[in-house]
Amino acid sequence: MLVLGIESSCDETAAAVVQDGRIMRSNVVSSQIDVHSRYGGIVPEIASRKHIEAIAPAVCQALEDAGVALGAIEGIAVTQGPGLVGSLLVGLSTAKAIAFARGIPFVGVNHLEGHVAAVLLEDRTPEFPFTALVVSGGHTSIYRVRDLGHFELLGQTRDDAAGEAFDKAAKLLDIGYPGGIVIDRLARAGNRDWLAFPRAMKDSLDFSFSGLKTSLLINLKKRGCPYSEGELPHVAASYQEAIVDVLVEKTLRAAGNSGLSRIVVCGGVAANSRLRERFREECDRCGFEIYIPRPALCTDNAAMIAVAGTYLLERGESGSLEMNAYSRLPAGMPA
Ligand code: KG4
Ligand code: ZN
Repeated sequence: MLVLGIESSCDETAAAVVQDGRIMRSNVVSSQIDVHSRYGGIVPEIASRKHIEAIAPAVCQALEDAGVALGAIEGIAVTQGPGLVGSLLVGLSTAKAIAFARGIPFVGVNHLEGHVAAVLLEDRTPEFPFTALVVSGGHTSIYRVRDLGHFELLGQTRDDAAGEAFDKAAKLLDIGYPGGIVIDRLARAGNRDWLAFPRAMKDSLDFSFSGLKTSLLINLKKRGCPYSEGELPHVAASYQEAIVDVLVEKTLRAAGNSGLSRIVVCGGVAANSRLRERFREECDRCGFEIYIPRPALCTDNAAMIAVAGTYLLERGESGSLEMNAYSRLPAGMPA
């Protein structure tokens, strides 16, 4: 089955063609980072307008890269939520229009389920069930995943998401946007023990990252001046380690509790080099199998949406033209 995936939940306009939920024929991601970086964060109204400009070219490019005509597409998978509603509606309306014009089915996909489905595009894939950590700019959640339609929430953030913690720190340090990748790069040359940052909610599978950002702010205020160029890598490395520590520890604990040996880590923050390294080390040490998509499939893309959507289309699901987009949409639950 040839499926066109469309993703526009945040600041990437993405389209992809995936065959049989397994073979990535194309994966086009058009980023709005340059537009939003001058504001230090995403401006929803601007994001919607940019999606409108970019969506048709992205779909055309995805078809061209895949070497298929629109007439060969058998179904469309589109992100329905969670995300910015104005942005989601651009992708959803595009999917509806193409599906209506071509007389093919379309399905709404949960963005978080899409992140998990990305792992199925890799050569080495996990068998179900597994424990999954979805760690992105908007979410930090641990699930027991029975299959692509059945997610049981085991733990989640009570305040900021891990990606948000990276982005907010980068803003405080004035080192660029989005912060995750900047901190990842800086931290490579840094001393992880240079500053002591808190590890919150030790006894729970829930997370809290807002104290971490406050701790950095207090540190900065106490100093009364910005960190020097020489100090920044140490600050980045210490801060990153505090995030990585809790993500690894809680995910392994959740997997151990539920007796599952397979762990999937996905979402934008799963592109972080230190997080990938630590998960591999700890899983090796504790006897878990670890599966992390390549970095380009961790950050937002439409191929992952096509994979999750193929599962729904193959079950015979088909969305109606009345379908709406949702800013909040729990994984594993129909809208
Ligand atoms: O999944 P994603 O692309 O979009 C959402 O669904 O939110 O995740 C974006 C988040 C941002 O907070 C970004 O800073 C973070 O992922 N991120 C990273 C890295 N690359 C992206 N965080 C840490 N290290 C990275 N290398
Ligand atoms: Zn995402």
